[in-house]
Formats: sequence, C-alpha cells, structure tokens
Amino acid sequence: MTQLHENIEKQRKEAIEFLTLYKNENALSNQWLRDRLDEIKQEQKYIPTTEELVFGARVAWRNSNRCIGRLFWNSLQVFDERQVETEEEVYKALLRHIEFATNGGKIRPTITIFKPNSIRIWNYQLIRYAGYETEEGIIGDSDSIELTRICEELGWKGERTPFDILPFVIQIGSNKPALFEIPKKYVLEVAIRHPQYEELAQLNLKWYAVPMVSNMKLSVGGIEFNAAPFNGWYMGTEIGARNLADVNRYNLLPTVARIMGLETKSNISLWKDRALVELNLAVLHSFKEDGVSIVDHHTAAQQFKLFEQQEVEANRQVTGNWSWLIPPVSPATTHIFHKPIENLIKKPNYFYQKNPF
Ligand code: ARG
Repeated sequence: MTQLHENIEKQRKEAIEFLTLYKNENALSNQWLRDRLDEIKQEQKYIPTTEELVFGARVAWRNSNRCIGRLFWNSLQVFDERQVETEEEVYKALLRHIEFATNGGKIRPTITIFKPNSIRIWNYQLIRYAGYETEEGIIGDSDSIELTRICEELGWKGERTPFDILPFVIQIGSNKPALFEIPKKYVLEVAIRHPQYEELAQLNLKWYAVPMVSNMKLSVGGIEFNAAPFNGWYMGTEIGARNLADVNRYNLLPTVARIMGLETKSNISLWKDRALVELNLAVLHSFKEDGVSIVDHHTAAQQFKLFEQQEVEANRQVTGNWSWLIPPVSPATTHIFHKPIENLIKKPNYFYQKNPF
C-alpha cells in the first residue's frame, strides 16, 4: 500500500469510529449509521454535517487531558465557518468570535471552525501581548518575541508598552500572511489591583479577559481542522501564578514582595509564596469586581470532580494529564493531587501542530 492509500484508510477508519460514537451518544439506530456510511462512500470522503462537527468539537474538549475545566464541555458554542475563503472573511469571523465569547465579561466557551487544510492563524491566542527584546531587556510578553518580530517584518509597528496587543496573522494556502489589527472595542482587559495593597494598582498591570487558543488543530473523524480557535474563561492561577509570575514571563514576584514589605534576602521568609498568593488574590479580585468570568483553582478542582463523576456515570473512563491538571498554587489542597489519572489520548481531540513560521 502506498502512503496515500494508508492515509485514506486511516481517515476512513477514524470517520467510522467517530460516526459510531456519534450514533451511540445520540441514541441513533444502526440503520442510521449504515445509511450515513453509504453516503460517505459515495462522496469519496467524509464531510461532517454541522451537527456532527458540533458534537466532535465538544467531545474534543471532553477528551482534553490537560484541561481542568471540562465539566462544561457540552455547552461549547460552535460556529461552523467552513464556507469562509479569504483572509478578510477569516478576520471578520474572528471578530465575531471575540465579541460573542467576551459577551461583556460573561464569557461564553466558544469555538470557530474554518475549513481544513488551507487556513492557518499564526497567533498562539487571538488576543495576546507582544514581546520585544531591547537593549534594556525584554518589554512585554517574552512568549511572543518571535511572532512579534515577524509582525514587525511584515510591516506592523508596536508601541512598545508591556501590553501591546498583537495583530491577527492569517495565512491562506501559501499566500503571504495578512495582518489585521484588532479594533480596541473588541478587547476586554482587566486592570489588576489588590483589595488591601493599594500600591499594586500603581504598577499598571492588566490582563485580557478571554484566553482564545488559536494555534491548535481540531481532529474529528479523521479530519484535521488547522484553524479552529477556541476559548473558555481563565482560571486565576494561569495569570497570577504563571503569566505575571514566571521568571521568564512578567517576573513580578520581586516587585509584589517589595510592595508587601517582605524580606527577600532569605528563602525562609517564604516571600515568593506570600507574594504569589497576594498576586493571585489580586487577579481574582479584579476580574470579579469588573464582572469578568474567572474561576479560582479550588472551585475549578471541585468542578473537575463533578466532571469525573459525570464521566463514571456515563460509563466512560476519565483521562487526564496529572502534571497539567494540578494547579500551580497549593496543588495538594485539591483532590486531583492525591489521585492518579491515566493520560490516554482519545479522539476527537485538540492537538499541537507545527508552527507555520
Ligand atoms: N494558559 C494560557 C494563558 O495563560 C491559556 C490556556 C487556556 N486556558 C483556559 N482557561 N481555557 O493564556
């Protein structure tokens, strides 16, 4: 068998598996499945209906082993945008996604699915801060340095604040990628302040409201959707214990410790731990006060426990990646820490894919 034939075989197998799952979970008949498989044979290849795609995207979330927020998998809002052809149309669909998902702060888990095999969004997330290497050190998000450089090579010019929003970088086929600025009114951000340490607000820290991952592919029924940006809402620690705290990101623990008046010369003062807790408190407090959806890690773990119970009741094995599921703050206070979980990869699912740049 040639490579091509092997791929077609593998794809057919995955399509059959997926449609069988779809049939079972939607209580459809064996006759329905036979008819649907006949249709696919005639069309030569599997093209999911919108309903099948909606189900596939939701189950892909259910199967996302690194995600602690999976309790809500079945409420994912799916926009089927497979008719979109041009960069301009992708741009407009992405703005619709942002507006719907943001919903004035009452965030709605959402995915927008474009046709497979030709569209790539180069951004890691639809909204993400730029990062610049300068002689005085890094400005902004060090995670974005490479993409920021590419944007500037393509003609974009950032203001060089620590929180410049990168433009969309959209590529169709082998065209030169097109840049689109995101109009300000689409970008909801939260200024970070602390309920007691008022000085924290003077750092002018902020973070954007909605994490919309846009560089992963959705795999459903043997088809890979390379452009399928999706979002939930933040768990506070993602911002407070990683984005703002990691030494190679915004590295703010020493600054927060200084505001708190902590002794930073010795480890046994636990200044890092104390600064971490207050920074995380500030993130949760600020989002809550602004009416922007966010979840603390204790509540998220409780919700994950409900998810596990739901899955057991549905006779499905709960899979997960333990090292990702435990929160980076006080992990042993959650039940997840104390329990093994199998990291078995099921499809449909979301996968990393090769960077287009
Ligand atoms: N950890 C990433 C960030 O801090 C976001 C990943 C997705 N997170 C989510 N809550 N859906 O931006």
